[in-house]
Parts: sequence; C-alpha cells; structure tokens
Amino acid sequence: MSGLFHRLAKRSGPAIPFTIDGAPAEVQAGDLLIGAILLHRHALRRFEFGPGERAGYCLMGACQDCWVGLADGRRVRACTTRVEPGMAVVTGGVGE
Ligand code: FES
Repeated sequence: MSGLFHRLAKRSGPAIPFTIDGAPAEVQAGDLLIGAILLHRHALRRFEFGPGERAGYCLMGACQDCWVGLADGRRVRACTTRVEPGMAVVTGGVGE
C-alpha cells in the first residue's frame, strides 16, 4: 500500500497500531492522524460537493478539509488529532 505522504525521517519511540477500514497499519508515536492515513492512502475522505476525494489543505486546523470518521462514532480533524493505539479510522474505501 503506498500513500500520498512519504516519511523522510524516522523518530525514536514505539510504533502505534491502528486500522484504516479494518486494515492494520502502524505509525510512530506522536504522529498526527492526517500523516498516518496519508502514509497509507492517497486521500482522507470523499468530497461532499462533487466527485473526487480530499486530502486536507492547510494542515493546521483552519480549513476543515480533513474531517474523518472513527469506528467509535467520533468525527475528528485529522490534522489536529494524534493517533491513539487501536484507533479505527473509517473512510469507506477512500484513497485506496
Ligand atoms: S487540513 Fe485544514 S483543518 Fe485539517
């Protein structure tokens, strides 16, 4: 699986397991959800006003382009949310 983002530097610290649409994935402790998803996928969500997919825009919590759903029912801004162990992202197959 290849994503839109590519990690340029590896930090020390434990790997954090999470899932994207049930598929197991791993990131480094401290990673934000937007990076975690885009390391594995080329998009975060479907565009609600037309065809296509979205992958965030500002990366700093301002544009609201990076909302993603979690299996526990929460909706979070991926660019301001750190990945938690066991977090289950639900995209409906976007960005595969
Ligand atoms: S990318 Fe703009 S708010 Fe997250």
